[in-house]
Amino acid sequence: MRLPFLIGNTHRLSKEARHLAAALRGRSFAADLVCDPELAARLAQLAHVARREVGVLLSRNAHCAHVLLGRNWPGLELALQRRRDGRPCGLRLVLVYDQPEAYPTDADLELLEGARLDLLVTIGHRRGQVTEAWVTSAAGSLQLEGPFDLEMLGHLRAAERIRAVEEASRGAPAGSERPERAVLVGLVVPGRSGYSDPESLEELRRLAETAGAEVVDVLTQERPRPDPATLIGRGKVAELRVLVEREAADLVVFDEELTPAQQRNLEEELGVKVLDRTALVLDIFARRARTREGRLQVELAQMTYLLPRLVGKGVLLSRLGGGIGTRGPGETQLETDRRRVRRRIDELRTRIEEVARARRTQRRARQQAEVPVVALVGYTNAGKSTLLNALSGAHVFVEDKLFATLDPTARRAQLPDGRPVVLVDTVGFLRKLPTQLVAAFRATLEEVTEADALVHVLDVSHPAWERQRQAVEELLEELGADGKPTVLALNKTDRLPADRVAEVVARTGGVPISALRRTGLEELLARVAQALPGWPRTRLRIPYAQAGLLAELRRGGRVLREEYHPDAVHVEAELPRALLSRLKPWAAT
Ligand code: GTP
Repeated sequence: MRLPFLIGNTHRLSKEARHLAAALRGRSFAADLVCDPELAARLAQLAHVARREVGVLLSRNAHCAHVLLGRNWPGLELALQRRRDGRPCGLRLVLVYDQPEAYPTDADLELLEGARLDLLVTIGHRRGQVTEAWVTSAAGSLQLEGPFDLEMLGHLRAAERIRAVEEASRGAPAGSERPERAVLVGLVVPGRSGYSDPESLEELRRLAETAGAEVVDVLTQERPRPDPATLIGRGKVAELRVLVEREAADLVVFDEELTPAQQRNLEEELGVKVLDRTALVLDIFARRARTREGRLQVELAQMTYLLPRLVGKGVLLSRLGGGIGTRGPGETQLETDRRRVRRRIDELRTRIEEVARARRTQRRARQQAEVPVVALVGYTNAGKSTLLNALSGAHVFVEDKLFATLDPTARRAQLPDGRPVVLVDTVGFLRKLPTQLVAAFRATLEEVTEADALVHVLDVSHPAWERQRQAVEELLEELGADGKPTVLALNKTDRLPADRVAEVVARTGGVPISALRRTGLEELLARVAQALPGWPRTRLRIPYAQAGLLAELRRGGRVLREEYHPDAVHVEAELPRALLSRLKPWAAT
């Protein structure tokens, strides 16, 4: 099927709008640019006059292939899919939203990936004037850059971005042929907590690997106190420099949080990129956040982290950018204005608050339905997502990497006593969780504080499970959720001999399970049912004419007894208050 030049909603399109759209037919724009500012300006004008979202599909040589109007583009996706053979489709989409903000919507990001577009340019406008633009490409992970003004848009080159997308589609890592080589550094301060130890270094190694780096060496130093200028001592810095050169390392990752000044001093001395644990965790979060809310939260955390480090360094307000540690606000000359970063932080806060409000409304609806909410909490990689899948039959993204879950996911499940529950997965906890992250993920963590009960998932096959348990309990305390009814799920018992499992059960009183092999789940749910506050018990007489109510009773409450008498069905049930008040007319006296 050949698609018309104008696709979408042409209903009641003014003469002027038709004229502006028609003027794009056969037109080509600057091919070396991601989006010619002239095209952006014309489209913003068109969106204003047409009073709807508009867009164009541009070929590689920036020829206008189609103009899109509104949000419904019949036949387009099919046509794009037909072009697909695993390679980018050779078209880029420039969209103008009907609002000043242009941060791409989840639907458009899905379209970018689904249709394998070369690039997605999203533009905001106010009365036909371009306000901001974002440029997104799917080179392996999503790379979002922006916000740009019209002038900056004129400096963004298309070729290198499309090349990265092409390379990623061939399986080559965009930009680099080999993983970045990292040296890890830990400072041990005897008698003081909060510094490095073998366990946290091991965790740092996993974090670095999760971020795609190859760990080539680990260096530790014991010192009575940290050096204010470089954290580790001068002599150790010299040793580190030799090591970096010998191993041809690309970056050094510190287990401790570095002050902006320490980071700068170390980078100067070592001549390679220096990151701390927080930056690394942020980097992983940036790559893994999948919903709009998750992405906003990560960006806020990155910006907050970045702000004090903005000395003399330009910053491109891009996210999910190039190599490890530079994903997120990167380092280019384009953007040096701290005020801009602050403004972005404010914007992000506002948007996150909007999303949090929507989430609160959802939660209230759940509370009104009186379906109890059970939050799965636990150390990262403990098996929360696997357990959620096992309990609800849902398929949440599970991966043996740290922080596979960055967005809470809610699923319905049923307790053995017939009561429905909502299970929510939460972001994995971690020792020394960066403070920026705790703040940014507050909305996510609200799910924990608002839940009726918690299932604390513990990976008992991990050598440090007791420390992990403690770290999670401390964070729960910080969140004020330590008093909640909690069931301890001792997960991954399939990896342990039976006597070890028995020992752990005796020590903790938890329920041994294997989320992967789906064992122990009935017992776990039974314990959850016990932990949840019960519903009031009541007796009802449901006339046969109202037999439809029985199904509702079974769905929304817990039926204990059901007897068929000549006058009516006699029912004894535990019901949530809302259901109970609706069924009052049939209460047996
Ligand atoms: P985060 O998203 O980092 O918080 O992780 P999570 O707690 O949601 O862990 P996830 O469910 O992603 O599981 C992490 C890894 O542990 C995956 O490789 C799972 O297959 C594995 N896993 C989960 N449960 C079990 C289990 O019972 N036994 C074994 N052997 N492996 C398990």
